[in-house]
Amino acid sequence: MPDQEKALLEVQHLKKYFQTPRGTLHAVDDINFSIPKGQTIGVVGESGCGKSTLGRVVLHLLDSTDGRIFFKGEDITQVDNRKLRELRKQMQIIFQDPYSSLDPRFTVKAIIEEPLENAGIPRAKRREMLPELMATVGLADRLADSYPHELDGGRRQRIGIARALAFNPDFVVCDEPVSALDVSIQAQVINLLLDLQEQRGLTYMFISHDLSVVKYLSHKIMVMYLGQTVEISESDELFAHPTHPYTQALLSAVPVPSVKKKKERILLKGELTSPINPKPGCRFAPRCLYATERCFQEQPALAEVSPGHSVACFNCVK
Ligand SMILES: Nc1ncnc2c1ncn2[C@@H]1O[C@H](COP(=O)(O)OP(=O)(O)OP(=O)(O)O)[C@@H](O)[C@H]1O
Ligand SMILES: [Mg+2]
Repeated sequence: MPDQEKALLEVQHLKKYFQTPRGTLHAVDDINFSIPKGQTIGVVGESGCGKSTLGRVVLHLLDSTDGRIFFKGEDITQVDNRKLRELRKQMQIIFQDPYSSLDPRFTVKAIIEEPLENAGIPRAKRREMLPELMATVGLADRLADSYPHELDGGRRQRIGIARALAFNPDFVVCDEPVSALDVSIQAQVINLLLDLQEQRGLTYMFISHDLSVVKYLSHKIMVMYLGQTVEISESDELFAHPTHPYTQALLSAVPVPSVKKKKERILLKGELTSPINPKPGCRFAPRCLYATERCFQEQPALAEVSPGHSVACFNCVK
C-alpha cells in the first residue's frame, strides 16, 4: 500500500518514451519516488538524462507513456480537463532561463499579472495582488514598470518565481532555476526558495546537473542516468555514503571547500549515450570503471543498501 496520505506527490513506474526516426527514445524509464509535503527532492544527472522531461510529465504538461502520478492521493494521469485546469494552479514550474520565458515587450507588472489575467481574475483584484507578490519575491515596487532586459538575472528569476506563486501552489518544479545565474546571485535565489518553502509549506522538485546546488535544498536526492534512477536516498546519507559509481563520479566533480582536503576526481569515460532503443544491461556500464560481463547483459534493479537508500548496481549491492 503506497503511503499516498503522507506524500504530497508519489510517482509509480513513470515512463515517457518519444518516437523518433531512429527508434524509441526512453527519456523517462520506470521512475518511482515520493515527496512528503513541505520537502524537496533533488533530481540530478547530466544533460539529456531526462530531468526536464520528468518534471514536465509530473506536472502533466506532457502526457506520460505509462505509470501513475498521485497528487494529494489522486491519480492525476486519469483526471478530466476541468480537474486538470484546477490542478495546474496547484502545481507550477520555474524555468532555468527566465529571460527566454519572459516576454520582453511586457513590463514586470504585466508579466506577473498575466497568469492571473488568463485565469479570469479581474483587474482591480490583480492590482491588489501585485504588490504583495512582488514583495514576496523581494522585488522593489519601483521595478513594476521596468522591462525584463533592464533587470539582472536574479531579478528576472524573481519574476519567474512570482508568476509561479500567483495561485499559491502546493508543488513547484524548479528546473535548473539558478544554473544561468552568477554564483553570488545563485545563493540569493536559493535562499528565497528556502524562505518561501518555510513560509508556505511548499514542496519542491529541484532539478540540477550540479550536486552541490541540490545539497543545500534537498531532503532526498535522486540521481538519474539515461532515464533511470541509479541511486536514491536521503540527502545527508547520499553525501556520506555515495554508492553508485556514477554518483561517486558526479560527487568527485563537486569542489571541496578546504585547501587541506584533497580529492581525486573520477573522470567519466565517454559521453552519455543515446537513450534510443537502449541495449539490455546497465545503461552506465559502457562508462563504468567496475563493469563486469554481467553488467552488459542484465539490468540491475534498485536495491536497498541501508534503510531509504537504494542503488541500482550489481557491484555495489551485496
Ligand atoms: N519532445 C521530444 N521529442 C523527442 N525527444 C525528446 C523530446 N524532449 C526531450 N527529448 C529527449 O529526451 C532526453 C531527455 O531530455 P531532457 O530535456 O529531459 O534532459 P535533461 O536531463 O533535462 O537535460 P538538460 O540538463 O540538458 O536540460 C534527451 O535525449 C532529449 O533529446
Ligand atoms: Mg533539462
